[in-house]
Amino acid sequence: MASRSAVISGTGMSVPERVVTNADLEKLVDTSDEWIRTRTGIRERHVAREDECMSKFAVEASRRALEAAAVDAKDVDLVVCATVTPDMPIPATSCSIQQQLGCGKAAAFDMQAGCSGFIYAQSVAKQFLLTSRCSHILVIGAELLTKFVDWSDRTTCVLFADGAGATLMSAGEAPRGVLASVMHTDGNMGDFITLEAGGTLHPPSEETLRRGMHFIRMRGNETFKIAVRMLEDVAREALDQAGIPAERVDWFIPHQANLRIIDAVAKRLAIPEERCCVNVDRYGNTSAASIPIALDEAVRSGRVRAGDVVLMAAFGAGLTWAASVVRW
Ligand code: UT7
Repeated sequence: MASRSAVISGTGMSVPERVVTNADLEKLVDTSDEWIRTRTGIRERHVAREDECMSKFAVEASRRALEAAAVDAKDVDLVVCATVTPDMPIPATSCSIQQQLGCGKAAAFDMQAGCSGFIYAQSVAKQFLLTSRCSHILVIGAELLTKFVDWSDRTTCVLFADGAGATLMSAGEAPRGVLASVMHTDGNMGDFITLEAGGTLHPPSEETLRRGMHFIRMRGNETFKIAVRMLEDVAREALDQAGIPAERVDWFIPHQANLRIIDAVAKRLAIPEERCCVNVDRYGNTSAASIPIALDEAVRSGRVRAGDVVLMAAFGAGLTWAASVVRW
């Protein structure tokens, strides 16, 4: 008898309509299209309007994932939304997503693991599908990072962007499904990527506002230096756990932070360019949303087919890093 597994049964994505190009940013800060393209690979990104909140895009992406899986919202058992940019601190945005979708019987909670959040959430969902009576779990990565961007800081405002990706994960049968998931954290590097105020350490005050402590700050170059090695190591660890050599990877879906990081990791893993899913040029860095957005594009374009091996790997605030291997 085939053993129970956690499969990805549907994918979806949604991004704001408004597109901001590098040329637009040249008007805001001392930067250039050339610098942004050559240092990051980004050409344009989607930016939410003032009246739009994160759950709007999470709900749209989730509806598409449910539709692709042909599963009714009423049959979802759990909603997990990975995000660092919730609609508000209380209640969890996944509760609003549950309500908007009509997932009446689903429990719901948010997951905060920076840019690795989607893979962390996928790993948690896998455990529920393997060890509980859950049949369908919505795993979402959704961010409106631009709401916390300092538009006068050229080191961050050219990078971060908005969007949402969702997957429906369902109880299925091996050999399909998540073959391996690996998660790591090192809080020693917690100050590499921060948004300092708004929590119990620095509750919102006139002073936190005046000091710009509600904006995302990043020690980009230090993060860059460590990202390549950590992504390579965690990808190899997940592949080892799955018993799959890197040359058998059909699609590599890395976190879309920087084209130079993606290229360097793919090269170290000897994964050819054409097997690497890249969309950072069109979407920028959407943190926890970047992998599910790239996955949805790869699936809907017909690239990912039944039986393919998909490797996902991410790296971000925490610091956290994570990888998973899925047989489609
Ligand atoms: O998603 C979470 C994980 N995040 C990441 O993985 C991000 C990792 N880091 C990166 O992607 C890169 O470090 C950046 C794209 C953020 C920066 O690239 P870099 O090659 O590390 O540049 P740098 O920070 O060392 O800065 C080089 C120069 C500096 O000028 P000086 O000191 O050499 O005169 C910066 O001030 O580039 C300058 N610079 C800019 N110039 C034009 C920084 N930002 C800009 C800008 N336009 N937007």
